[in-house]
This record gives sequence, structure tokens and C-alpha cells, in this order.
Amino acid sequence: MLNFNFYNPTRIFFGKDRLNNIDKFVPADAKVLITFGGGSAKKSGLIGRVKTELGSRKVFEFSGIEPNPHYETLMKAVEVVRSENIDFLLAVGGGSVIDGTKFISLASYCKGDPRDLLYYGFMPITSEVVEKVVPFGSVLTLPATGSEMNNGAVISYEHGKFPVMSELTFPKFSILDPTITFTLPKIQVANGVIDAFVHTTEQYITFPVNAKVQDRIAEGILQTLIETGKTTIDEPENYDARANLVWSATMALNGIIGAGVPQDWATHMIGHELTAAFGIDHGQTLAIVLPALLEVRREQKRAKLLQYAERVWHIENGTEEDKINLAIKKTREFFESLGVRTHLSQYGVAANKVDYIVEQLKAHGMTALSETQDITPDVSRKILELAM
Ligand code: NZQ
Ligand code: ZN
Repeated sequence: MLNFNFYNPTRIFFGKDRLNNIDKFVPADAKVLITFGGGSAKKSGLIGRVKTELGSRKVFEFSGIEPNPHYETLMKAVEVVRSENIDFLLAVGGGSVIDGTKFISLASYCKGDPRDLLYYGFMPITSEVVEKVVPFGSVLTLPATGSEMNNGAVISYEHGKFPVMSELTFPKFSILDPTITFTLPKIQVANGVIDAFVHTTEQYITFPVNAKVQDRIAEGILQTLIETGKTTIDEPENYDARANLVWSATMALNGIIGAGVPQDWATHMIGHELTAAFGIDHGQTLAIVLPALLEVRREQKRAKLLQYAERVWHIENGTEEDKINLAIKKTREFFESLGVRTHLSQYGVAANKVDYIVEQLKAHGMTALSETQDITPDVSRKILELAM
């Protein structure tokens, strides 16, 4: 096992009827800005319920944080924070709203140009860069990203998507009530299953370091998603199925399975370029890239691919090649069984666009990806060609 530090201070309130914790954990004298998206939370009545819990606190609303949240939109919220002296943010939404709120929290009192926060990549932003952050909590409406219990955000700016990380941006608390997610369109649930699945494979299908606990938790998450993924799409109000999706998604990216193991974020980094270039949903980009990436990287990932085949898909027979082939095939079939297409051409993208994506990867410094930093632009090109 590799050395690791583990820190996660986010309080989780999981289950039905947990909104009353807002009153307990938002300071009584706080001036609160509720941040949300394009309207689903308003329409479902959730914003009204959240406001009721906030009682007599002074409350402002900031709506319109779009999927793949944009820097410009978030800077409008920063203006509200500064002009109204907001001292607590409450994100009500999915990954985009929570990520956007993390950025608002960091940018409101950063020392230089907030745009610079986009260029730290995976290097954590510290208190030397931001004078203070605005504390925030979240009410999760879409199980997928794990943003509700991690310190990362992905922010769109110009033609790119930029990871932003900081120990200062863990939510103070997150409310995970599976019933709040019942109103999701089926495609968003499918995206969520795939996002959680791929977060798990990116911390698991790398190379072995004898991290038995992390491996077995990862295998448990993958098997849970395979077992309940289709059910929770077909039966949106099946509480148990949805509860298992919600906790799988949180566990997939709260630091626990990634502690002490190699990590491969190449599927995500290539996927981000597909969202930025063609507007394809985050989860769908992962369904396109992962099967092709596993194929191209089968030698580097051989030992863990075999473990994945045997322990997750219970593939017992055949040669090593047969087992790996079948595991990749089953992965693709699983994504497709959720109603998500796995070929770039099925999203109307022509083969001659591969060059542009490779150029964008270069422009964004994504030239040494994966757990061994040897996915060069040429390897990314092979993956994209196979993903067509
Ligand atoms: O804007 P509204 O009207 O609320 O509609 C949203 C949005 O259109 C809708 N929605 C959310 N909850 C709903 C609902 N509709 C009905 N009922 C509900 N309960 O769903 C749509 C998509 O929402 P979004 O937040 O964009 O989805 P998701 O949670 O998948 O987040 C994707 C973003 O997270 C980033 C992605 O890059 C992308 O920008 N990621 C963040 C990560 C992190 N912070 O750790 C890791 C991930 O890998 C990912 O990159
Ligand atoms: Zn993701």
C-alpha cells in the first residue's frame, strides 16, 4: 500500500426527512446565500422547504448555475457574496451546483485574480492564495459526482474544464435524502450510475499495491451499481435502490477508496474535453472513453483487469485474454443497458474531430495522463479513435 494522508471533515445526514439539520448546522446569525441550478429545485418545492428550515435568518437566492458550471456565472454570485456580506452558502443541487458553490466560496476572498484559481490543476489551493473561504453546506439532488463529500470542483472556462482542489472547500455538511432525487430524469440517473462506476474504476483498475480494504470496498461499490443501476432507473421511487446509488456515488469519491492506491484520471480528463467541445453530458463522456481506454491499456492494467473480471464480473473460465475481453465487453454492455450510448459517433461526432480533441488535451497540459503518466497525446488519440 502507498503512503497516504486522509482528511474528510464533512458531516453527512443520510436518509428521509433530514432537512431539519439545516437549522442545527447553519449558524443562527448567518446571512445565507442559497445557490441552485436552472429551476428543478424550485419546481419541486425543495427551495421552499430549505427556506422554511432557515427560519428567520437573512436569506438570498442565486439561481442559474448551469450544468458544467461556468466561471462567469459563478463570478456573479461572488458579487452577491461581497455586496451582501454573505457568510454561509447553501448549495441545493447536483455536482454542478455544489462544484460551483465551492468555487464561489474560494473566489469571494481570493487575493489575486479569481481566474488564476483555475490553473492549479490537482495542486491544492491553500490559505496563502485565498484570505478566507465562505463556509458552505449542501443538499444533494443528484447522486453522481461525490462533490457532496469531497473538496474538488470542475469549472468551465472558455473552451476547457478545469479541476480546482482545496482542503478549504469540503462542505461543512451534506444532506443526502434519496427521496429528493426521485424527480430526476432517467438519463441523469444513468449518468450518475456511470459517473460513480468510473470514479471507482479509476481508483481500482490501475496496478496492484496490495491495498486489500480499498480494493474490496471498490469491488463492493461496483457490484452494488451493477446490481441496482437499472432498477433505480426503471423504478425511480424504489427507496432502497436509490439509497444504494446515493451512498455508492458518495463513497466512490470521498477519498476512502483512493487512499494509498495509484489513481488514473485519464478517462475523466479526456471526457472533460468531449464535454467542452461537444456538450456531451459528463457521465456519457465516461461511457464513451472507459471501454476504449481499458482496451488500449490492457497490458499496463493486466493484473487489475483480471481481478476486476474475476471478482466483479465473476468470470472464471478462459484464458487471461478471454477474461479481459469479456470484462471490457460486460462493462460496455452495462453502460448500454442503462440507456447510454458508448460510441462517440453515436453523439454525432465525426472521426475527423479526434485531432481537435488531441490538440485541446495538449493545450490544457493533459499530456502525461494515467497512473503511470504515460498516456501521451498519441495514446489519447488511439483511445479516441477506438471510442468512435
Ligand atoms: O439545473 P437544474 O434545473 O437543477 O437541473 C439539473 C441539471 O440540468 C438536473 N437535476 C439535478 N437534480 C435534479 C435535477 N432534475 C430533477 N430533479 C432533481 N432532483 O440535472 C441536470 C444535471 O445536473 P448536474 O449538477 O450538472 O449533474 P452532475 O451531478 O452529474 O454534475 C456534473 C458536474 O460535476 C462535475 C462534472 O464535470 C460536471 O461539471 N464533476 C465533479 C466532480 C467532483 N466535484 O468531485 C467529479 C466528477 O467527476 C465530475 O467531473
Ligand atoms: Zn466524474
